[in-house]
Amino acid sequence: MQEQHMARESKAKTATKGGSRPESGGKSTGKTPAPSQQAPGGYDILFKGDNIELLRGTIRHHIMSFQGRDPDRAGNEDSYRALSYTLRDALMYKWIKGQKSLYAQARKRVYYLSMEFLVGRSLTNAVINLGMQEPLHQALKTLGTDLEELQSCEEDAALGNGGLGRLAACFLDSIATMGIPAYGYGILYDYGIFHQSIVDGCQVETPDSWLRTGSPWLYERSHFMYPVQFGGRVHSYIDQEGRYRSRWVDTNIVMAMACDMLVPGFRNDHVINMRLWRAKASRELDLESFNAGDYVSAVESKVQSETISKVLYPSDDIAEGQLLRLRQQYFFVAATLQDVMRRYRKTNVHFEDFPNQVAIQLNDTHPAIAIPELMRLLLDVEGQSWELAWDVCVKTFAYTNHTLMPEALETWSVDMFGSLLPRHLEIIYEINRRFLLEVAERYPGNLRRIQEMSLIEEGPVRKIRMANLAIIGSHSINGVAELHTKLLTEHLFRNFYEMYPERFNAKTNGITPRRWLLCCNQELARLIGEKIGMDWATDLDKLRALEAFADDPEFRQRWREIKRLNKEKLAAIIKKRCNGLEVDPDSLFDIQVKRIHQYKRQLLNVLHVIRLYQHFVAHPESTRPARTVIFAGKAAPSYQRAKLIVRLINSVAGVINRDPRVAGRLRVAFIPNYGVSLAERIIPAADLSEQISTAGTEASGTGNMKFALNGALTIGTLDGANVEIRQEVGAENIFIFGMTAQEVESEKRIKSRKPIQIYEQNPTVRAIVDAIAQGAFSDGDRELFRPLVDDLMSENDPYLLLLDLESYLTCQDMVGEIYGDQDAWTKKSILNVARMGKFSSDRTIRQYAEEIWGIRVE
Ligand code: IMP
Repeated sequence: MQEQHMARESKAKTATKGGSRPESGGKSTGKTPAPSQQAPGGYDILFKGDNIELLRGTIRHHIMSFQGRDPDRAGNEDSYRALSYTLRDALMYKWIKGQKSLYAQARKRVYYLSMEFLVGRSLTNAVINLGMQEPLHQALKTLGTDLEELQSCEEDAALGNGGLGRLAACFLDSIATMGIPAYGYGILYDYGIFHQSIVDGCQVETPDSWLRTGSPWLYERSHFMYPVQFGGRVHSYIDQEGRYRSRWVDTNIVMAMACDMLVPGFRNDHVINMRLWRAKASRELDLESFNAGDYVSAVESKVQSETISKVLYPSDDIAEGQLLRLRQQYFFVAATLQDVMRRYRKTNVHFEDFPNQVAIQLNDTHPAIAIPELMRLLLDVEGQSWELAWDVCVKTFAYTNHTLMPEALETWSVDMFGSLLPRHLEIIYEINRRFLLEVAERYPGNLRRIQEMSLIEEGPVRKIRMANLAIIGSHSINGVAELHTKLLTEHLFRNFYEMYPERFNAKTNGITPRRWLLCCNQELARLIGEKIGMDWATDLDKLRALEAFADDPEFRQRWREIKRLNKEKLAAIIKKRCNGLEVDPDSLFDIQVKRIHQYKRQLLNVLHVIRLYQHFVAHPESTRPARTVIFAGKAAPSYQRAKLIVRLINSVAGVINRDPRVAGRLRVAFIPNYGVSLAERIIPAADLSEQISTAGTEASGTGNMKFALNGALTIGTLDGANVEIRQEVGAENIFIFGMTAQEVESEKRIKSRKPIQIYEQNPTVRAIVDAIAQGAFSDGDRELFRPLVDDLMSENDPYLLLLDLESYLTCQDMVGEIYGDQDAWTKKSILNVARMGKFSSDRTIRQYAEEIWGIRVE
């Protein structure tokens, strides 16, 4: 407690100094002033970007002063870092300028809280967003290098698992581009998502120590350190005014240090900050051990506390009930709210105005502990009443749900939660007590409803339901696609929807067109620019104008040439990363890249691959187009079925790629270690995008949008945002197959068709399943893949693979036919790109800003 007090005091000092203190002063480069600082007009001139000599000089200066290296003897690694520092200067300059103006205008701020930010690399994105390609190209030439080479020196910031984390990164890009006053808040993991390699067909995980040599994009801000409490007990008492009060005492303290990464908007001078917390031991030693003479143990226990921010949990769409995960969640939320409060307190005294100044978006339930934490701060620290505190919370928080699968909904055992956060448990009980009174009043005598809506799940292990907490404590609950939101209100959250219909809304996900077209597919972006200008980069609806060129033979030809070029580049990557595997850039590139998960049905794709293989072997005269089927994606290390699927893909690939009978007809590649940077090379090369989850399981998907924006046609189910992609591109420009969500739902209940019937009635299906079962891909071993065969044949297969298989195969045949007519295919490809406007994350963010955050966007 004392420590907290001291921190508040020192914060108050920082606050008063804040306006006048230049924060980048800490990064002073010593006695030799950087050329940029000598320039008249300072950084402005440098980053107008037309002064090549100045750029070159600044880079060389950073090589010397930040790297301690001789600029005349620098390698690419040094140049990469020096260039990053140069750009970082520009970003910091703009950020400080922007912050001052925000303070002057007393603007409301948005805080986007997310356990994951899957950023990828920053260099190219910064160069393009700052509009500095051309002068940099010139400056780097004089230094004997180029951007592409320097970019490859950068490690991906892979602080996320998949869609949820990448969405957060796209959102920050859009928020910056649209000039919205905002912060992203998360955790600076020392180890991001693990590195995947494939050994004998199996996934092997190794740690991703991306910070080993430090990141030039990060500012460590040791003066923003907050204490975070854990454990201890609650001390309750009656205050002087006779009110019941509680205080959280005897806690262990871990410090949270701010590490900032700046995110530039697209050519608009707006920069936002992503503040990631890193755990640091508090200064004091454990006095008991220390006094007992065990100095080393005392130090060790302090070091232990730093494990909180060591590693990202590698499970996607599966809830983790582990203590360390809960510690991570509270750690980043507690530090964030202290920072938010500090900022709010600079200019405000009362809390009634808090929701007019602060909007907090919870990316999934991972940061939902923010709700009881803000209650605690308002009640225990600020001495506010329960009613006011609760009103502030509900008006401040908004919650985004990302799943339809009950097993992905987070719960925490009450016992574990209570021992780590006893005061929060108390607050949650009180929130629940008051809420259930409301429910009982509204639905008298309806015990079942009370049980279902309670924050506490009763049972042998009592659990806290974080989604229920997030819903009750937020004024907005959004799904991430239209279908997802509809299903949420009809099933998972139906009770809550009936009680608070006005809180529920859909915000279909989007992707940033800067990274996912302008940066990753520069040739295509240039071609589009030639025809319709570049305004689409910030107004993606402008791509519509491309429709006018869909029938232009010359344009189609150039479109195809660019796709072919991208495929050649990917072929080179495959050769390098898949043991020399050669693939033909003239074949149809059929690609499924995403986390490996049963509901995403990579296995269904494999069944089609086996079908194609059998077809080509049986029909050497076949006129079907040659295909290269490409997979990439990570399986959670503890997810055995997903790992077995990885093994099957690699085993099938091994057999097919060695079989001379299908040489030139079919190739299968599993590219290891999927991540953002790899996605940026894979997606522009795709002809066909596989989005084949069981309808009603994928909340939105954003890979589907990235592929379509780069001219791939989609084969998919009516799931997630595929439904809206079909609406936009037109049913004739997308390949839809399989059951609808409603059909899936009723089929699971009535079981009108069983997998065994399909197997017995359809010889094609039988041949595929038999091949796996009889060991055709496991050297005759019938046991290895038996669990997968059993899944396929089970009446209770929740993902209904065999029930969708026939429709999938028919649809794939159609894909092959249309691909044979390159003109027709190219036209569809152009129309897909032209009609992707809706899926810009700029549109999504505008909706969040206007409909949830109460922020006007110019
Ligand atoms: P924070 O909002 O206190 O985290 O500070 C972020 C940045 O905003 C600082 O680095 C300053 O550049 C700027 N800033 C902070 N406080 C003030 C203020 O009171 N007036 C104007 N600018 C401020």
